[in-house]
Amino acid sequence: MTEQDFILKNLDSSKLDKGSCTWQSPSNIALVKYWGKSDPQIPKNASISFTLQNCHTTTNLAYSKKETSSKIFSVQVIFEGKINEEFKPKIIKFFERVALYVPFITEYDFVIKTDNSFPHSSGIASSASGMSALALCLMSIEKQLNPNISEEYFTQKASFLARLGSGSAARSVEGELVVWGEHKEIPSSSNIYGVKFPFKIHNNFKNYHDTILLVDKGEKQVSSTVGHNLMFNHPFAQQRFDQANENITKINQILQNGDLKAFVNLVESEALTLHAMMMTSHPHFVLMKPNTLQIIEKIWDYRRKNNSNICFTLDAGANVHVLFPEREKEKVNAFITSKLLDFCQNNQYICDSVGTGARQL
Ligand code: DP6
Repeated sequence: MTEQDFILKNLDSSKLDKGSCTWQSPSNIALVKYWGKSDPQIPKNASISFTLQNCHTTTNLAYSKKETSSKIFSVQVIFEGKINEEFKPKIIKFFERVALYVPFITEYDFVIKTDNSFPHSSGIASSASGMSALALCLMSIEKQLNPNISEEYFTQKASFLARLGSGSAARSVEGELVVWGEHKEIPSSSNIYGVKFPFKIHNNFKNYHDTILLVDKGEKQVSSTVGHNLMFNHPFAQQRFDQANENITKINQILQNGDLKAFVNLVESEALTLHAMMMTSHPHFVLMKPNTLQIIEKIWDYRRKNNSNICFTLDAGANVHVLFPEREKEKVNAFITSKLLDFCQNNQYICDSVGTGARQL
């Protein structure tokens, strides 16, 4: 599929006056990270993530035909029950980017009602779940207008549109593992949408757990746009993109052969490399907090003493995602609650695990 295949032509919207649809779409946690992109939202390397189950956004999109036609987007946003002006510019920008592919969006007045399952400003990015939920709602309208589209086209185009809103959102449509970005060893992989990991996943990675420790719930210090831009003129950028693609080759094998030790090693190295890129860019940032490091030390200590396969990964922030296999869940949960919660803001954390993707409600 190319961009051209997603352009809608001659779609007659005259018979669809109004309606509404609702999608629940998950967040995801990258194992090999996307950091660096070119226009329009094309990643500099392939990335792979676990789709999450409990962290999600639910979006209801109500649409009604405009009384007088105009090319100006008409959108009202209601977030957690209240009219929200703050999200509107991002949504208008998203509409501008996707209008070529879903041109009917200029013909309707939209009301977007959206809620997250995780606390707002918890430091958990809602752009992946939020943009994918909205993209899926737009696809539901497209399907109303053209019921003949295949399920595969629906899913691919939803991921394609979501990507134009936020890169990582391309990985939030399906589960359990999604690859986004062209890679020679992942058949059908693409720079313009995410694809399900195409090989059999070893049982060790089934129902993998991700407990998110909320170390710092403050506003993001570095927005993703600023962050990705730091990779332009970064002295180590090309090595990083090459390394990430090599790590996709490695994790592809690991996910199939179940080598947990190799998984731990690779995932932690990816997290620290992402932060190292920020620490070595101009301007530079340190996004970890003292408590992030305390948690990392404790995880390493627990792993050594218990021959455990617990590990951590990080987003572009101070929160820690603690990853562990299903069979260690009792012991690791006990360790987290007794030893790690003291390092979380107000002892807050979220228990999550790998999920199967978005669903229509
Ligand atoms: C560190 O997807 O938030 O979480 O495309 O600008 O919206 P935009 O960026 P975004 O970047 C995510 C970066 C990351 C790593 C990852 O999820 O792969």
